[in-house]
Amino acid sequence: ISDMLIDGFGRKHTYLRISLTERCNLRCQYCMPAEGVDLTPSPKLLTHNEILRLANLFVTSGVDKIRLTGGEPTVRKDIHDICSNLSSLKGLKTLAVTTNGITLAKKLPMLKQCGITNLNISLDTLVPSKFEFMTRRKGHHKVIESINAAIDLGYNPVKVNCVVMRGFNDDEICDFVNLTVDKPINVRFIEFMPFDGNVWNVKKLIPYSEMLDTVAKKFPTLKRLCDHPTETAKNFQIDGHVGTVSFVTSMTEHFCAGCNRLRLLADGNLKVCLFGPSEVSLHSGLMFTSDGSFRFLCYLLHMLSFFCISRVQCQYVLHCTSIAVALSMFTSDDS
Ligand code: GTP
Ligand code: 5AD
Ligand code: SF4
Repeated sequence: ISDMLIDGFGRKHTYLRISLTERCNLRCQYCMPAEGVDLTPSPKLLTHNEILRLANLFVTSGVDKIRLTGGEPTVRKDIHDICSNLSSLKGLKTLAVTTNGITLAKKLPMLKQCGITNLNISLDTLVPSKFEFMTRRKGHHKVIESINAAIDLGYNPVKVNCVVMRGFNDDEICDFVNLTVDKPINVRFIEFMPFDGNVWNVKKLIPYSEMLDTVAKKFPTLKRLCDHPTETAKNFQIDGHVGTVSFVTSMTEHFCAGCNRLRLLADGNLKVCLFGPSEVSLHSGLMFTSDGSFRFLCYLLHMLSFFCISRVQCQYVLHCTSIAVALSMFTSDDS
């Protein structure tokens, strides 16, 4: 099949994020309560084979980039096998992982052999005691080790995701930028997103414009680089620095129009928009292997994309009925 997955906004979906697990070995304050989150019972989670069959379906439908996420994807014991099999899918160009880096250093040589091409490592502070406060766990040095191990293994760039929060790490922005002086690191400052239910409020948000000001004052040679139209980050470089600096402006400058991401959750549900409320189970879709499954995925995408946050309310209401019908058709074999 050479068609593309195109949604109701004409966006070509070539990037699939697969959550391998809901579990995590950290408890970041902005993501989870101290006791963790309710986990989907394991029989309802996608198995290794189900992940491969769905990934194969997406890749034959034009997806050329898969990112493994979580929770924390490296806590899944079969991650190596999953990576080996995914990386051999014909047509897949990029197999990336977003990880908190806690157990990455020791697993990384093997993961590289299994075909991981790109790494995004989350690190919100360079101060160990602040790390313990934010993640409610020890392990700052392990994340630093993982970043260094990734550089040593030749990953270039190693993306370092830093969620910036007022009063917590806004005083560290320039220290993070200094990581780019002599290392192939792409520091990505992420605007804090106050999701429903997360205890941190909107006052913690530092807008992109303010972060940019802080960096530009200290590093006057900061220059904007070209961004790919589907990128969520705005990219910059400072004269003489090996690495680069980016800003993910989820809150103050939406990138919905260019978003090409699909999300397969650990329980087999498919989501188009990070913020959108609608999901549909693909568990029952596992039996579709022919061209019919591609056409169905396209249909599904058209329907799901009406729930994207940038849609106006009246369109949402108009399309509710057809979505309900489409989804019930797709899941009707799920018994
Ligand atoms: P690249 O493939 O390297 O561009 O990574 P990415 O930015 O797609 O993924 P990553 O897992 O590193 O996420 C970085 C930040 O971007 C996180 O805060 C995500 O929540 C946020 N993010 C990722 N995709 C979207 C999206 O579609 N919409 C919004 N608003 N934020 C997103
Ligand atoms: N706001 C911004 N970024 C977030 N992340 C998790 N929760 C939030 C939030 N509320 C980031 C993590 C990781 C990436 C996958 O998403 O820190 O880097
Ligand atoms: Fe959430 Fe990621 Fe922190 Fe784990 S490491 S608690 S998934 S933000």
